[in-house]
Amino acid sequence: MGTADRIALDEDTWLLVLTGAGVSAESGVPTFRDSNGLWESHRVEDVASPEGFARDPLLVWRFYGERRKAAAGVEPNEGHRALVRAEKKLGDRFLLATQNVDGLHTRAGSERVVEMHGTLFKTRCSRCDRPPFEDQDTYENAVPGCGKCQRPGSTALLRPHIVWFGEMLDPADLHRIERFAQSAASSGGKLVFLAAGTSGNVFPAAGLVDAARKLGADTWLVNAEPAENTRRFAHFARGPSGTLLPALLD
Ligand code: OAD
Repeated sequence: MGTADRIALDEDTWLLVLTGAGVSAESGVPTFRDSNGLWESHRVEDVASPEGFARDPLLVWRFYGERRKAAAGVEPNEGHRALVRAEKKLGDRFLLATQNVDGLHTRAGSERVVEMHGTLFKTRCSRCDRPPFEDQDTYENAVPGCGKCQRPGSTALLRPHIVWFGEMLDPADLHRIERFAQSAASSGGKLVFLAAGTSGNVFPAAGLVDAARKLGADTWLVNAEPAENTRRFAHFARGPSGTLLPALLD
């Protein structure tokens, strides 16, 4: 483990950040893995999988309606804001990959954001390829239909634009992250990989630290407790991201 106490944001620093649920915890958004496989008292596979949606789409929409309301009612915290300031300094040498779907990074002012697991505030068709669209609706009483690809006798349901368990991430998002890290390496810059508030359980996000190490990156983990992959990082700063991200980056 390294002993450095700050991440230097120099002229040649490229910063790739990965965030998870822990970064939103101080805003009042619950994390996933503290709840015994239950998510607001639902089994995760019932509300966050294609099979669950096929079985009971109204339950799934009620669950995401609640999450939309909850996320709209909270505010970004000092951790989100420290990342905005880092991006202001680095410009195109900054990229934020987030597993969070709550939209708080964007609301704080981050612009170069890859929402690897989708976002609560978009909806898409479960069948046709119309582009995902902005949507705040909470659909408490009826499952919404597509309206663009309706065929007689068959209703295509709209679904949240979220990557569920058992689904693949958008390859374009992964390419954007890879391209960023490779640009850092090929420009001779100093690549720093910083993961914050993530338990290191869910791939491919949990594997980004190894990809970054292969490119020679310095690697930092900021987390309230050790993560599954803590050993893969050169530096581990243990504690709340709302305090530690400003301390490390400003
Ligand atoms: P987890 O809930 O698995 O992990 C959150 C991590 O944040 C834990 O290791 C906590 O110790 C840490 N933590 C909690 N409060 C913190 C704080 N204030 N400051 C710093 N760290 C804190 O969440 P993720 O790693 O994001 O996928 O989970 C990854 C994915 O699993 C999620 O994106 C979600 C879930 O399945 C989808 O929804 C597709």
